[in-house]
Amino acid sequence: MKKIIIAIDGYAGCGKSTTAKLVAKALDYVFIDTGAMYRAVTYYFITHQIPFQEPSDELLNQIQLRFFKVDDQPQIFLNEQPVYQWIRTKIVNENVSQVSALKNVRKFLVKQQQEMGLEKGIVMDGRDIGTVVFPNAELKIFMQASMEARVKRRFEELQTMNILMTEEEIRLNLIDRDYQDMNRQESPLKKADDAIVLDTSNLTIENQVNKVLELAYEKIRS
Ligand code: DC
Repeated sequence: MKKIIIAIDGYAGCGKSTTAKLVAKALDYVFIDTGAMYRAVTYYFITHQIPFQEPSDELLNQIQLRFFKVDDQPQIFLNEQPVYQWIRTKIVNENVSQVSALKNVRKFLVKQQQEMGLEKGIVMDGRDIGTVVFPNAELKIFMQASMEARVKRRFEELQTMNILMTEEEIRLNLIDRDYQDMNRQESPLKKADDAIVLDTSNLTIENQVNKVLELAYEKIRS
């Protein structure tokens, strides 16, 4: 069967990663959460006390990111250490937009993301997948949802990870990240002209997955 690239972009808290993961599972495709890659680099900067300025290639080349399955879920490893419990903490949430705005960081990660898609059969979620990483992706989805729905989702997700943030803290962080992600100079968050908008405010995860799968099967059959 023909393999395609599925790019899922949109705001934080719309269910992008959860949907992408389940769509990838249903199609037996690779799932890549690029937000986790930006978060892991941010975690590296914080733990190594690196200032949030354009890093050199030499510095970036000390950062190795890999996804390995843990309990059947793809999780990110930084220099062979499992960091997936740490990348969703408040300190990373508060600094990831600054680190992901750095041109050299984006260049470093986009190159790796493009290599991951060489053989297609991939579902990748992020902010610039349909616009920059895979402008020729066969299927591009742009997810949006009301602030209320996004806060609720993030709150529940963080609770399952035992990360304590109030709904108000989450709301303020989402507003701040939306602003920074949409207004940065390098690859700002924006809908690709040929992306299909999916508003997930009133959809269950199952609904979201089924909608994306329907669109994917159309593309695979065409
Ligand atoms: O999807 P997320 O909330 O885990 O992403 C964390 C941050 O990383 C987000 O605020 C912006 C940045 N990001 C990005 O700039 N480009 C991507 N492709 C993915 C994430």
